Amino acid sequence: MTAPRTLPPPASDRRLAQPERLPLLDVQGVEAAYGPYRALFGVSFSVPAGSAVALVGPNGAGKTTVARVISGLLRASAGTIAFDGQEITRWPAWRIARAGLVHAPEGRSVFASLSVEENLVLALKGVNHRAQAEALERAYGAFEHLARRKDQQAGTLSGGEQRMLSLAKVLALPRRLLVVDEVSLGLAPAVVDEVFDAMRQILRAGTSILVVEQHVERALALAERVVLLAHGRVLREGPTAEIAPEVSRLLPTGAGTLNTSPAAPQQPGGEPDRPEAE
Ligand SMILES: Nc1ncnc2c1ncn2[C@@H]1O[C@H](COP(=O)(O)OP(=O)(O)OP(=O)(O)O)[C@@H](O)[C@H]1O
Ligand SMILES: [Mg+2]
Repeated sequence: MTAPRTLPPPASDRRLAQPERLPLLDVQGVEAAYGPYRALFGVSFSVPAGSAVALVGPNGAGKTTVARVISGLLRASAGTIAFDGQEITRWPAWRIARAGLVHAPEGRSVFASLSVEENLVLALKGVNHRAQAEALERAYGAFEHLARRKDQQAGTLSGGEQRMLSLAKVLALPRRLLVVDEVSLGLAPAVVDEVFDAMRQILRAGTSILVVEQHVERALALAERVVLLAHGRVLREGPTAEIAPEVSRLLPTGAGTLNTSPAAPQQPGGEPDRPEAE
């Protein structure tokens, strides 16, 4: 047996030699509580630069809490959050947003008396004319539906269209990291397609995404990595191909209840525990 002529450098050196491989977002041992109720227990995971990570788990697992803690909307009671190499754990939400980490709003957040275009322009305040035109083009490109309604008063849009507009406002400006929590909730399937196409576009443009989504299979199709959360803890984290089978075993219907019986294989059409009828 011959010894290799050169040994690979230790992991720490490799990391130093490839700084671009450091995660954009690094969450370590994060805990959070709502008053006396503890919602997160030592949550750790990371989002590599330029990639999409899906945060999945049953209802009440703590996904929204993770999203809120990362964006500074809820203070972590322990642990650290680093964004782009800087610790942001105790930063206020506005400072985190200014650093390029944006939380896509849940629900509708549009100005009802302004037109669709005025809403978008307002979201682009402080951006020069050329960048503004490009951002509008990007938003209308992603949501053709909105392009056809750019002069319509936002208050007269349907509920789904208002959701689309609030998302278009977020997507118009490229950011470093987008945290999206159930943005497609209640939207028609065709609109959900538009939302996911828009996310793919911004991913291609270099923005990383942490996606929380009730359509788990769509989130997995977008994401390179998956973080599986249950009862405020990370059960598994890794590349989508590795984690997906476990996700479909634990969340067989895509979302909702946690299937905690690991021994029970999925038997389509069968009710295995039911005694045979005579
Ligand atoms: N404001 C609050 N006050 C008290 N408890 C809360 C509050 N918000 C969330 N919780 C609790 O924290 C836990 C995690 O909630 P969270 O909303 O993060 O779950 P989730 O994974 O986003 O669930 P879902 O899939 O239903 O959106 C739940 O048990 C929930 O009841
Ligand atoms: Mg939630």
